[in-house]
Amino acid sequence: MGKQFQKQVRALSKTLLSFLILVLFIFGGLYYWANYTPQSDIVEIPLEETADDYDKVENGVHVATGFIDDKGMEATIQNCTACHSAKLVTQNRMSREGWKATIEWMQETQNLWDLGANEELILTYLSKNYAPTDKGRRQNLEDIEWYELK
Ligand code: HEC
Repeated sequence: MGKQFQKQVRALSKTLLSFLILVLFIFGGLYYWANYTPQSDIVEIPLEETADDYDKVENGVHVATGFIDDKGMEATIQNCTACHSAKLVTQNRMSREGWKATIEWMQETQNLWDLGANEELILTYLSKNYAPTDKGRRQNLEDIEWYELK
């Protein structure tokens, strides 16, 4: 082999090596750039504010609103927390008639919409779970074994 040829081979391999290193740098840089996330862009979202948490029920109580978990709760939340806090509802105790009258009063004076088929559901839910507790008189004793005084 001539000296000239050896020189050419060496020059060519140097060029190839430089080219290879350049390609590695370019792809390495691109890879790094594509995966780069500045630390300041990562914002931690508190768990309480995520949407899945809205449905959470703990000890039979809907955590986000404080409503007792029972049939009709969803319709009640949807229709009764749009204008005022859920507390205004849950702190009240009324009979079915009382709840119906309150709803009618809001419909007549506060622009509460027609509840349609949900009215039955909501009234049953409210009168069952938010019934008057103070009856003024104790409830009848049931299943009592009476005994004769001697
Ligand atoms: C369109 C708005 C609106 C919606 C929806 C609504 N309310 Fe009201 N409600 C009001 C307003 C206004 C008041 C009066 C608030 C006040 O006194 O500060 C009120 C008051 C009340 C009160 C207190 C009444 C009193 O005597 O103090 C209760 C209980 C109540 N709402 C229950 C409900 C229930 C149950 C629902 C669902 C069926 C409901 N609200 C949906 C507007 C609404």
